Amino acid sequence: MGIISSHAKHFFHTLIVFLPFFLCVICQESCTCQESQPPSPPPSPPPKPLTFIDQRLAVVYPIIQKFKTTITSDPFGYTKTWVGPDICRDDHYKGFYCDNPPDNLTAFSLAAIDFNGFQLAAPSLNGFLDLLPDLAIFHANTNNFSGTISPNITKLPYLYEFDISNNIFSGVFPTAVLGIANLTFLDIRYNYFTGTVPPQVFMLDLDVLFINNNNFMQRLPDNFGSSPVLYLTLANNKFTGPIPRSIANASSRLTEVLFLNNLLTGCLPYEIGFLKEVTVFDVGNNLLTGPIPCSLGCLEKAEQLNFAGNFLYGQVPEVVCGLGNLVNLSLSYNYFTYVGPLCRKLIKSGVLDVRKNCIRGLPDQRSPYECFVFFMHPRYCPYFYSYHIIPCKLHPLTHPWPLTHPPPMPPKRHLVSYSALLRHRL
Ligand SMILES: *[C@@H]1O[C@H](CO)[C@@H](O)[C@H](O)[C@H]1NC(C)=O
Ligand SMILES: *[C@@H]1O[C@H](CO)[C@@H](O)[C@H](O)[C@H]1NC(C)=O
Ligand SMILES: *[C@@H]1O[C@H](CO)[C@@H](O)[C@H](O)[C@H]1NC(C)=O
Ligand SMILES: *[C@@H]1O[C@H](CO)[C@@H](O)[C@H](O)[C@H]1NC(C)=O
Ligand SMILES: *[C@@H]1O[C@H](CO)[C@@H](O)[C@H](O)[C@H]1NC(C)=O
Ligand SMILES: *[C@@H]1O[C@H](CO)[C@@H](O)[C@H](O)[C@H]1NC(C)=O
Repeated sequence: MGIISSHAKHFFHTLIVFLPFFLCVICQESCTCQESQPPSPPPSPPPKPLTFIDQRLAVVYPIIQKFKTTITSDPFGYTKTWVGPDICRDDHYKGFYCDNPPDNLTAFSLAAIDFNGFQLAAPSLNGFLDLLPDLAIFHANTNNFSGTISPNITKLPYLYEFDISNNIFSGVFPTAVLGIANLTFLDIRYNYFTGTVPPQVFMLDLDVLFINNNNFMQRLPDNFGSSPVLYLTLANNKFTGPIPRSIANASSRLTEVLFLNNLLTGCLPYEIGFLKEVTVFDVGNNLLTGPIPCSLGCLEKAEQLNFAGNFLYGQVPEVVCGLGNLVNLSLSYNYFTYVGPLCRKLIKSGVLDVRKNCIRGLPDQRSPYECFVFFMHPRYCPYFYSYHIIPCKLHPLTHPWPLTHPPPMPPKRHLVSYSALLRHRL
């Protein structure tokens, strides 16, 4: 960060200025000095001009002070530390962080705000956030901020992380974020946004897009796969329609994707099998139907695959059960009818869950009547021929574990997207 030395300098400076004062206090306590004059109320001194270690801090000081007056709730008293000119000192200005701005590496400016968990309430961030010219990072998980996001934040040249998760923002998607040139992290989960997500969101050069736990209602846009994101959570909204075939276009980057708890319909597109970087693919609790395409046998890096709670049917492809990195393949609450030997081994080892399907001879399945009713209706997926195509050179169809023993415990991995399903940032 490069601010240590300046801190130190500043600290010494403070010490020199205040040393005589400290000595006098000590003297007063130990020498019982006599007052020669009757005490008179000290005349209120004229306000001393504040001195800032950098002009850029003088610029943001009044903006912070003005924002402070708009805060209606501060249960932990953080704003009490927002006083005086020392915006960059660790014990002052809780939540504010300074750094050298990219355009002048000897200057000091306000570079980051981290209000995570502060539980501050304010009716708007406008006139604050959009007026902090060197801000690069804004994190405000678990506060009570609301209002709209001013289009003026697009004028912040360095902003690249924007997190307003778990606040009480409502209304339409904050389109202002579309104009932030270098945004890489966008987290608006756990708010009350409604309506549609503009397709341009999927054109932003993001690494992380968390929009779960809002009230978005729309078909997934067709350009969805153009997004370069690595971590995408759309969970717990009301997205409808099929998973766009354009998902293939996300193949070189998409690493974790959560669609769970939406209203997605249609069949799983064969193109999912192109997601060669995917470690987590979760479409649990939607209205999807059709078989699992054999192309999913190409998801070599897949660790967590969740299809539970849909209307999927057919045979569970052995190539999927043969995936070497699987830790959890969840197919429960569907209408699958058959599992082959590799899948049966995964059931035994606890990796594959097929409870509440229509697989004869396995425990805890749906009743024959339920299965009969489901299959009474003719069922059909478009591009049906594609379901048998395997668009990769297959790994040998053997699971790397010694399958007669339980699988080795997978290393505990931090799954970025699943942690986004928690309301509070850890
Ligand atoms: C960079 O910042 C320092 C400290 O604020 C200032 O003295 C200097 O003039 C600045 N340089 C330029 C080129 O703006
Ligand atoms: C935040 O808002 C919620 C809902 O409006 C309310 O229940 C809660 O008490 C508020 N918390 C604070 C710290 O203001
Ligand atoms: C954006 O900035 C302009 C000019 O600085 C100002 O007039 C306007 O009120 C700002 N808009 C919002 C929503 O803050
Ligand atoms: C922001 O993005 C533009 C265009 O991609 C680029 O030229 C510029 O260097 C970036 N700025 C920073 C601070 O990364
Ligand atoms: C996918 O990428 C190809 C090649 O870049 C492009 O032609 C096509 O339009 C993209 N499809 C969608 C739906 O984004
Ligand atoms: C496997 O994934 C499902 C769906 O996400 C989840 O409910 C279940 O708890 C997971 N099982 C294990 C053993 O982690």
